[in-house]
Amino acid sequence: MLAPFFCLFLLNRTVERIPTELARIIKDKIRSEGPMTFRNFMSSALFHETHGFYTQAPAIGSSVGPFDTSAKFTSFAFGVAQAITQAANCLGGSIRVLEIGGGTGQLGMGIISFLSVPHEYMVLETSPGLRAQQAKGGLNVLETLKGLEPTSTVVFANEVLDALPVHRVMGLANDQVCELFVDLDEDGELCEQLGDLSTPKLRQRLQDEHIHLGRGQIAELCLEISSFFQELERIVKPGYIIFVDYGDKASNIYSYRHRNGTLRSYYQQQQIHDPFFAIGQQDMTADVDFTAVISVAVSLGLEVAGWTTQREWLTNVGIQNYVGTGKDVGARQQEVNLLTGEASLGSAFDVLMFKTHGLPDGPGLHPVT
Ligand SMILES: C[S@@+](CC[C@H](N)C(=O)[O-])C[C@H]1O[C@@H](n2cnc3c(N)ncnc32)[C@H](O)[C@@H]1O
Repeated sequence: MLAPFFCLFLLNRTVERIPTELARIIKDKIRSEGPMTFRNFMSSALFHETHGFYTQAPAIGSSVGPFDTSAKFTSFAFGVAQAITQAANCLGGSIRVLEIGGGTGQLGMGIISFLSVPHEYMVLETSPGLRAQQAKGGLNVLETLKGLEPTSTVVFANEVLDALPVHRVMGLANDQVCELFVDLDEDGELCEQLGDLSTPKLRQRLQDEHIHLGRGQIAELCLEISSFFQELERIVKPGYIIFVDYGDKASNIYSYRHRNGTLRSYYQQQQIHDPFFAIGQQDMTADVDFTAVISVAVSLGLEVAGWTTQREWLTNVGIQNYVGTGKDVGARQQEVNLLTGEASLGSAFDVLMFKTHGLPDGPGLHPVT
């Protein structure tokens, strides 16, 4: 830790925190083992074996759930199915579709209902609660990719990269950087504390991306991307990997415009800033550094197959065909407008695609004629 130790008063504590069982467990752990990295805290908050937010199978996307997501719209499943079909046509023959982070399973079931190519559909899911929910809905669910053989595959993940745990770092004078750890203050409450970097990989990431953090500027760095991609690269042979998420290139995410970082939490549909507000009951997320994602993927031999907005992508793959001419045409059009709108989900989300060598670019970059 940097000397002297001190807790940061970055967090707005005007709102009373909700005492949860997971908060108690984390405090006990810090008491016995000392401060933990924010990455380890976030991993527990989201994926703790019993009390993690995702472990408890939250009602993602429902009216009582913590946030809204494209995945709850049938038209989104239609659009994704068109994209997968177009990717499958480039691959030829039967394909494996691997959805990562299936949430409630609603999106997967929807995609399957619209897929018009021979396929085997499976979902890789970390959360046991969500796995059970997905399996109940009829999905073939995996806990790990370990047993899978390499084959012709299209991977799809909606809002998964943004849920990978992140380290938090802060710029100091003279281009120095320290890390934010989670510790206890003198009242025994969780707080953030500055310390030396827990791994040189954090400085390396900043150097590789030519990021110079201003004094007091905070940035979230996700090192998890490497292991995430290594597993995928092994089994996608040949194939495409398609991510839909919110994020940007490193120079934008780590610009002074985001001097407090991009970490945010959601609790009962409301955005909150205190990551310790209701641990295990709040979702936590940070913008995806697409520069880092590309760099990791390319280092493993994958190629960028396209990067565009959700708006362009869904429009180009033919989402408008979902609207049709039936009696609910008005409601369907509204859904499509929401998913493709400039001021709504259409521009909030990007689509980043990768391919194995020798394949054409990914679907949705140009209108299907
Ligand atoms: C924000 S939710 C999105 C769920 C769904 N894709 C949707 O759009 O509604 C993130 C999902 O990814 C899962 N997840 C997070 N990290 C994962 C990982 N490394 N491997 C597999 N699933 C993961 C979570 O449990 C959850 O199902």
